[in-house]
Amino acid sequence: MSQQAFNRHRRLRGSHSMRNLVRETKLSKEDLIYPLFVVEGQNYKKEVPSMPGVFHYSLDLLDDEIDKIVSLGIESIILFGVPKHKDDVGTQAYAEEGIVQQAIRQVKANHPHLVVIADTCLCQYTDHGHCGVIQDGTIENDQSLSLLVKTAVSQARAGADVIAPSNMMDGFVASIRHGLDEAGFSNTPIMSYAVKYASAFYGPFRDAAHSTPQFGDRKTYQMDPANRMEALREARSDIQEGADFLIVKPALSYLDIMRDVKNESLLPVVAYNVSGEYSMIKAAAANGWVDEKETVQEKLTSMKRAGADLIITYFAKDVANWINEDIERGRH
Ligand code: PBG
Repeated sequence: MSQQAFNRHRRLRGSHSMRNLVRETKLSKEDLIYPLFVVEGQNYKKEVPSMPGVFHYSLDLLDDEIDKIVSLGIESIILFGVPKHKDDVGTQAYAEEGIVQQAIRQVKANHPHLVVIADTCLCQYTDHGHCGVIQDGTIENDQSLSLLVKTAVSQARAGADVIAPSNMMDGFVASIRHGLDEAGFSNTPIMSYAVKYASAFYGPFRDAAHSTPQFGDRKTYQMDPANRMEALREARSDIQEGADFLIVKPALSYLDIMRDVKNESLLPVVAYNVSGEYSMIKAAAANGWVDEKETVQEKLTSMKRAGADLIITYFAKDVANWINEDIERGRH
């Protein structure tokens, strides 16, 4: 008579189909939000050196790229503008003819069903590279809020489907919600960068967006990577202030926080798989040190497992491609 001395976990791992059957977390194309950088000028498409596969596009070349994204089955993008002109109050962030405002209008005209998210911040637009206005050498909170509201309203006016404030000023969700409502955009959701750490993993993005702070760092407004309860305080404030989505950023070193935020709230949680996380895999894969497809899929799956409903990722096109190939081969 056999006696059960141990459990046979391998029963559920015996074949591809069996593993598929019991898989708890799946990546799908609907989860993906693809970030895009738009620049002024013409006939400009240039790769960001520290982010292979990521390009700056001028508006005349943008439509082709959006067509590709849409044909892969990606349903959402987040737009970052890289303006020519910068000044101390980030005027181009809220200019009616600003680069992002133009891009939003153009994309929505050609692809009305694509969800267009606008990143709402000042750092790409200020000559000092900070996310707010400077007074006596510090980043002033409340004055920055009014500029962020102007930025958000101008983006909504241009047709943005979602406003994603990433500046980490206190009260930005409440102020932007109020500003949007007053301007007639009470149906425009806010995807708040609720939990945003002062991270070294943003390095390549700052290359891409030309937004490196010209003095100091962002530690007086972005969060200390050592803190967990602070993340919950930030998330709670944003929920209270009326956020519709909560972003946790970066993703990979903060999966514990992602789970905390998911457990804390009923709102959709968004993982921002940031530039440094992208570039590390790209570099390792280019050297043949890791398998790109396997590592990317594992990494993004872990974000979903940790509680993310959506993922902002520079890998979105690759992932969509792999999913499409797997479906064709009947192996998804
Ligand atoms: C703007 C902003 C940043 C990122 C998204 N929005 C940079 C920063 O805060 O320095 C980083 C994105 C990435 O690294 O991929 N505030």
